[in-house]
Amino acid sequence: MGNDYFSIKFENDQLIFLDQTKLPLEEVYVTTDRYERIAEAIEKLEIRGAPLIGIAAAYALALSIKNSSGSESAENFNLAFKRLYRTRPTAVNLFHALNQVKNIFESCKASENVYQMVLTEAKEIHQDDMDKCSKIGENGLLIFKKKSTILTHCNTGKLATGGDGTAFSVIKKGYENGLVELVYADETRPLLQGLRLTTFELERSGIPFAVQSDSMAAVLMQQSKIDFVITGADRIALNGDSANKIGTYNLAVLCNYHNIPFYIAAPTTTIDTKIATGSEIEIEFRNKNELLAISGVQVAPNHYRTFSPAFDVTPAHLISGIITEEKIYYFPYNFIK
Ligand code: MRU
Repeated sequence: MGNDYFSIKFENDQLIFLDQTKLPLEEVYVTTDRYERIAEAIEKLEIRGAPLIGIAAAYALALSIKNSSGSESAENFNLAFKRLYRTRPTAVNLFHALNQVKNIFESCKASENVYQMVLTEAKEIHQDDMDKCSKIGENGLLIFKKKSTILTHCNTGKLATGGDGTAFSVIKKGYENGLVELVYADETRPLLQGLRLTTFELERSGIPFAVQSDSMAAVLMQQSKIDFVITGADRIALNGDSANKIGTYNLAVLCNYHNIPFYIAAPTTTIDTKIATGSEIEIEFRNKNELLAISGVQVAPNHYRTFSPAFDVTPAHLISGIITEEKIYYFPYNFIK
């Protein structure tokens, strides 16, 4: 079992993606050249993770104009743009990538090579994220004060980004430098990204881990078993308030109570320079079936009312540091517009 899986790959004018809803029991790759299929994959979380949905959407926009030209390609592009824009509301990386590709399209839509030019932009967005992931890993080494036991939430590795990940990249770099004792992966209800995806990635990287349900984090901290917590983010406001997978805020509060450092790792493309605080972040609410069923198996009746936000916002003052590809930022954050 090696580290030979990938989340997405663009080859022969098609996108190949790993269907993450089937992991870790089945490793199924889907090949498509239809933007609509990619939009659906993002909605269903077959493709997920803030940076990765931006990259996939950029390739989807390129594919929307693969076989068209002139006014037809403008029409197809605009339809695809609107469709992809509606897929998921919280991760700002999606909107950054869509707007970046749209700017290129607008500047070269009259050219015969418009498809190739837009595709080149999508590939650059992919490569840029890969580079940012590796710098985040290197910068993150500074947070290790000794060989550490780490707790993480949701999934932030290759499955969520274009490279080695955000928080996961820090963990991996730490491990390669002999600084990781053990990683506790939060199960991450309701969709189990920790239990299904982070464990898969930790195992493939040979990093020692244990999995526990989200409700067990407090006890681990009470028993002094955690040196620090690190997670990714889906959108960061200018003041540092950070939206991430539901349950992240719980961890930050617990860390504050137990005096344990709580870090976020994210590329600067996750910072939304249009919003001052986290109160402006739109939080996605998911279908109630995702709460009432576990991995497709119904465990409670469908008529129950549910409360099912997919993300929460951790206030900046609870975050010990935000690790980016540039450097580690510390509170008070004041990211620049
Ligand atoms: O709903 P998901 O699985 O797309 O949520 C993903 C997360 O919350 C990750 O922690 C986040 O995108 C950071 S990723 C590098």
